[in-house]
Amino acid sequence: MLNFKVNEERCIKCGECVKDCVRNIIAFNEEYPSIIPGREAECIRCQHCFAVCSEGAVSILGLDPDKAEPLMGNLPEAANLAILMKGRRAVRRYLPEPLPWETIKELLEVVAHAPTGINNRQTLFSVVDDPVVMEKIRQETMAGIRKAVNEGKLPKGLEFYSGLLDAWDSGADVIFRGAPHMLAVSTPKNGPSPEADTLMALTYFELLAQSKGIGTLWDGLLKWAITSIVPGMRTKIGIPEDHYIGYTMVFGRPDVKYCRVVKRDLDHLNRISF
Ligand SMILES: Cc1cc2nc3c(=O)[nH]c(=O)nc-3n(C[C@H](O)[C@H](O)[C@H](O)COP(=O)(O)O)c2cc1C
Repeated sequence: MLNFKVNEERCIKCGECVKDCVRNIIAFNEEYPSIIPGREAECIRCQHCFAVCSEGAVSILGLDPDKAEPLMGNLPEAANLAILMKGRRAVRRYLPEPLPWETIKELLEVVAHAPTGINNRQTLFSVVDDPVVMEKIRQETMAGIRKAVNEGKLPKGLEFYSGLLDAWDSGADVIFRGAPHMLAVSTPKNGPSPEADTLMALTYFELLAQSKGIGTLWDGLLKWAITSIVPGMRTKIGIPEDHYIGYTMVFGRPDVKYCRVVKRDLDHLNRISF
């Protein structure tokens, strides 16, 4: 039930909600827009009709336009966003103190706005907020890697994990980087766009986190460890069998401060002429 409603006192009949509906299921029914009878099931719940209405006349899914956050005047300057994108760094040094759960939850609530193919919204955020849990996962992961090394069962291409184990034994946590938190983002394998959905969510997470002074690290070493080396780990941390794990990230308060933007060139550009 979409509960699509138009406030007739506010509606100026501009037709924006009709034009912006990706499924073309909104039309003028005599005077005002409404969902074409029999087509409700085609709605992908993107809420564009709600977002695009300048008058706050459209409501769908029980949403109140007067309670929604307005965009006008609230957007960041492009230059601020650019400096964030250029200035974010892979943080490999962390303070042990955890972030408050509220801070992590607030981040994830924003990140849940990341787009998903056909607005499927199946992205699962598996997050560790409790450092005790993090330590258990760290220890068990390293124990699993040790077992694989000892039994000669490191998967082909991941033989270098024996070196990471040596580093661990001499006090260097190269896989988790001593971070107090981790995030794995997954989604059903059979969804329309599992790779894009998960990676976009993590990209949103990283940028928002770093804008708040929280360090993040895309962690391929952790992803391979929990998906390919340590059997059962992904199940133990609650990632469903039928999920595609996009990536893992560790995060927390950084024990490092970056002072300037590095130099990166647009080295590979194909300006298409046809
Ligand atoms: C997909 C991906 C996986 C990565 N995996 C790791 C990792 O396992 N360990 C690590 O220390 N850094 C990892 N990094 C961080 C990169 O090494 C880092 O982004 C790169 O050196 C550039 O530094 P910058 O992010 O500060 O610009 C990863 C980055 C990406 C994008």
